[in-house]
Amino acid sequence: MLLEAEKLYISYGDIRAVQGVSFGIAPGELVSIIGANGAGKTSILNALMGIVPVKSGRIQFKSREITATAAHVRARMGIRMVPERARVFPRLSVFENLMAGAYGLKKKLPLNQRTEWLYSLFPILGERKRQPASTLSGGEQQQLAIARALIANPELLLVDEVSMGLMPKLVDQVFDLLKQLNTEHGLTILLVEQNAMASLAISHRAYVLETGTCVHQGAAAELINDHRIQEVYLGHA
Ligand SMILES: Nc1ncnc2c1ncn2[C@@H]1O[C@H](COP(=O)(O)OP(=O)(O)O)[C@@H](O)[C@H]1O
Ligand SMILES: [Mg+2]
Repeated sequence: MLLEAEKLYISYGDIRAVQGVSFGIAPGELVSIIGANGAGKTSILNALMGIVPVKSGRIQFKSREITATAAHVRARMGIRMVPERARVFPRLSVFENLMAGAYGLKKKLPLNQRTEWLYSLFPILGERKRQPASTLSGGEQQQLAIARALIANPELLLVDEVSMGLMPKLVDQVFDLLKQLNTEHGLTILLVEQNAMASLAISHRAYVLETGTCVHQGAAAELINDHRIQEVYLGHA
């Protein structure tokens, strides 16, 4: 496994956000954690990134325990996150936002090559590289957030509700791109999503989260056809 999380518990004071969730992601996999608003998805990603501490449990990345490792060290080890609602720096240009993703890296990356590759993946970012990020649409800001996470050539990309607030057509585009990054570039991806259908459609495996606990897990293709999942998460009767 590239990443293994064992019995994670996450609390905010008396609020128990995540209660004993375990999961693993093999190299090259695209895995989803699906669940409703408040299920604990962002808490899990923040814990994997090291932004939120776990109360108990264990996180391993590349067979090294990182449960208490600082966030910037995890980033340097190859874990990057596309945060909820993109969170790009509005006053910085598109190019400066990309550079912010490379900040603090020890080894020198071929940054010119990386930015050119990202502009080929996201042509709109190349066209607008000198514009403030605030002038981009919501969908374009999501692309910028993904590109910013990719600039450092991560081994594991964590993606938090990338479909939120996007029109269905844009959701499809972003999900196609994530799928392409996984299949063509071998990027390992963990998606967390309320949009169960769109994320299951591109995932190998998925975990279903309900109020902080994992209630189902399995191959995405099987979960799509599971009547319990369809009723609750996909809006089918
Ligand atoms: N900083 C926080 N302080 C207190 N409660 C929080 C905080 N962040 C999240 N929560 C609570 O933890 C639970 C899980 O939230 P979250 O991880 O954001 O879920 P999701 O991303 O699935 O919507 C919710 O009940 C939420 O209200
Ligand atoms: Mg969330």
